Amino acid sequence: MESDYQHISVLADEIVEYLQPKKNQHFIDCTLGGGGHTGLILNKTAPKGKVLAFELDARARKAAKANLKQYNDRLIIVAKSYAHLQEQYGKHKKDLPQISGILMDLGLSSDQLDRANRGFSFKDDGPLDMRFDTKNQTLTASEIILEWPEDKLIKVFQEYGEVVSSRRLAKGLVSWRKTLPKQKQKAIKSSMLVGTILRILKISPTSLGRFRTHPATRIFQALRIAVNSELENLTKVLPQTLDILAPGGRLAVISFHSLEDRIVKHYFKNLNRGCICPPESPVCNCDTKPVVKIITKKVIKPTQKEITKNRRSRSALLRVIEKI
Ligand SMILES: C[S@@+](CC[C@H](N)C(=O)[O-])C[C@H]1O[C@@H](n2cnc3c(N)ncnc32)[C@H](O)[C@@H]1O
Repeated sequence: MESDYQHISVLADEIVEYLQPKKNQHFIDCTLGGGGHTGLILNKTAPKGKVLAFELDARARKAAKANLKQYNDRLIIVAKSYAHLQEQYGKHKKDLPQISGILMDLGLSSDQLDRANRGFSFKDDGPLDMRFDTKNQTLTASEIILEWPEDKLIKVFQEYGEVVSSRRLAKGLVSWRKTLPKQKQKAIKSSMLVGTILRILKISPTSLGRFRTHPATRIFQALRIAVNSELENLTKVLPQTLDILAPGGRLAVISFHSLEDRIVKHYFKNLNRGCICPPESPVCNCDTKPVVKIITKKVIKPTQKEITKNRRSRSALLRVIEKI
C-alpha cells in the first residue's frame, strides 16, 4: 500500500475466481475503499479494461488513487453513493460500454473502524460521528442519540441491530440526554454512549468478560446503518445492477451481517425464480422466466486460513449471480 490507509481486502481470491475478470473487460466496484479488489480486477483486465468505482469516503478515495496509480488511466472514481449507480453509469457509459461484472463489498473498512475520530468503534474514544461521507452528509450518530424521538430510537435499535432491550435502551437514553449539560448536548463521544448503555442495561464494566460480544456492538452497528442509510442504499442499488450488467455478466456481493445478507439472498432468489403461479394452479400461466443464474448455491465464507490472517473477515458472506 502506498498510503497509511489500513484495510485487508476480504475474500480477494474468491472475488477474482467468481467475477472472472479478463483482458479488456470493464467492471464496476460500488465500494472502492483503498482499492484492493479493484486493483486485482485492473491487473487482470489490462491493457484496456476499465473500472468505474464508487466511494463516499474522501480518505479512501485518496488512498485508492495512490495505491492504484499505475492504473490511473483505467480507473474512474465517483465520489457519490452507489445508490446513484445507473445515473452515474449513464455519464460514463461511453468509456465502459459493456459491464462484465459488478462488485459490492458492503460495510466499512478497517481504516474507518480503527480511526477514533470517525467514531465507528466503541473501543476507541472519539466523537460519535459514523458518517462515511464527512463532507456532504450532515446526520451523525451523535445527532441520532441526542435528538431522535424515543420511538425512532427503538426502531433503529430493533431493525438495524436486532437489539433485545431496544425499548429499555431508548427510554434510558432519552432520560439520560435530558441530564446532559448544554455543551454536551451538541455532540457526544463514543465512551459516553458505551458507559450509558452499560448503566441502562445494569452491566458492570468488570463483568464484561462474560459476554461473547460487547453489549454495545449491536447498538453501534444499528447507529452506523441508520447514519449511512445502508439498507436503503443496498435495496436501491440491487435492481440497478441488473439493468447495467451485460448478459453473462456477474454481480458479487460481500455482506457482513444477516440484515444485509437477507436482502441480497431474497433479491437473488426472486430473480432466479421461474414460475410465480400459485402452487394450486394446474398449469403455468404467468410466463415468468428466471433472469439470473445463482452461481453460489451456498453462501461463500472465508477459509480458516483467511480468518487466521484477518480476523475481521470472519463474518463475510459472498453471494454471486450471473445475468442470463
Ligand atoms: C469494506 S470497504 C471496501 C474495501 C475494498 N473492497 C477494498 O478491497 O479495499 C467498504 C467501502 O465502501 C464505502 N461505502 C459504503 N457505503 C457506500 C455507498 N453507499 N456508496 C459508496 N461507497 C460506500 C465505505 O466508505 C468503505 O470505504
